[in-house]
Amino acid sequence: MASIDGYPFEKLHCLTIADFHRPDIESLLSLGEHYLDLSVQKSPARSILAGKTLVNLFFENSTRTEKSFEIAGRRLGADVINMAIAHSSVAKGETLLDTAATLNAMNPDLLVVRHRASGAPALLAQKVSCSVINAGDGMHAHPTQALLDALTLRRAFDGSIDGLRIAICGDIAHSRVARSNVQLLNMLGCEVRFIGPPTLIPADADRWGADVFHDMKTGLKGCDVIMMLRLQLERMGGSFVPSKREYFHFYGLDRAKLLYAKPEAKVMHPGPMNRGVEISSDVADDPEISIITQQVETGVAMRMGILHALAEAQDRRAS
Ligand code: NCD
Repeated sequence: MASIDGYPFEKLHCLTIADFHRPDIESLLSLGEHYLDLSVQKSPARSILAGKTLVNLFFENSTRTEKSFEIAGRRLGADVINMAIAHSSVAKGETLLDTAATLNAMNPDLLVVRHRASGAPALLAQKVSCSVINAGDGMHAHPTQALLDALTLRRAFDGSIDGLRIAICGDIAHSRVARSNVQLLNMLGCEVRFIGPPTLIPADADRWGADVFHDMKTGLKGCDVIMMLRLQLERMGGSFVPSKREYFHFYGLDRAKLLYAKPEAKVMHPGPMNRGVEISSDVADDPEISIITQQVETGVAMRMGILHALAEAQDRRAS
């Protein structure tokens, strides 16, 4: 099932968008779409992961991502284990690789990893014999977020996002969401813009496949989609903005700045939101404009699609 025009999805891991070709992405998105349709119709999913074990290994805090992988795994019939890091041997000083070796000895089939260090999931993937899914590593990548964002956009724009102009605004420098999204949106034919203060946009960001703007008025002109990002204070070594109030004045999305974009523009945010810092509540909560709740709903279906594709690729290798 996980194939497009006879091109089978054969990847063992989901680590970065750059590891995938367009047909891989199309296979994943169409599986995500399939599960989204099932959830809308409230049909039970097939037990595609029955007998498989999914381990959630989150070294960083998470609400949406961890829970959506848990729900996705359960809906597909997997046994799901959430490792509570604070209560695990990691808190006693165990290294990442020792934790990996211990988990590997328990024979999981799917390992979902979030870690503050860029590259940690890729390192684990070399040490374990199961599929590894990157649920966010440092500032590096968050491929499942980019996939769920693309699927949310396809739904919001009647199936096609080719040619959309999308602004990603705010703390680009510390954002793994921005890095994965620019790769995927470019692959899908979108025009991507970054908008933010010079301190929060890396000097080489124009080489990532986005046009860079430092003011919302020019940056948002003609945009179909505005993706707002949180100031990721936990990754900032110093102070990158004078004050949150001043930041909101220049870069926070409110009704007035929304007028710079196309009249029918949609607003996204990966969460968690800081209301009154990067986005105002009246914009975030307006169902005519905001597709933030749809992102969360789509997240479960998209992750079901990713788990399904990886499990099927595993089974194909084993047979
Ligand atoms: C993002 C993350 O963790 O990278 N959130 C998420 O996965 N939903 C964005 C963020 O933390 O700001």
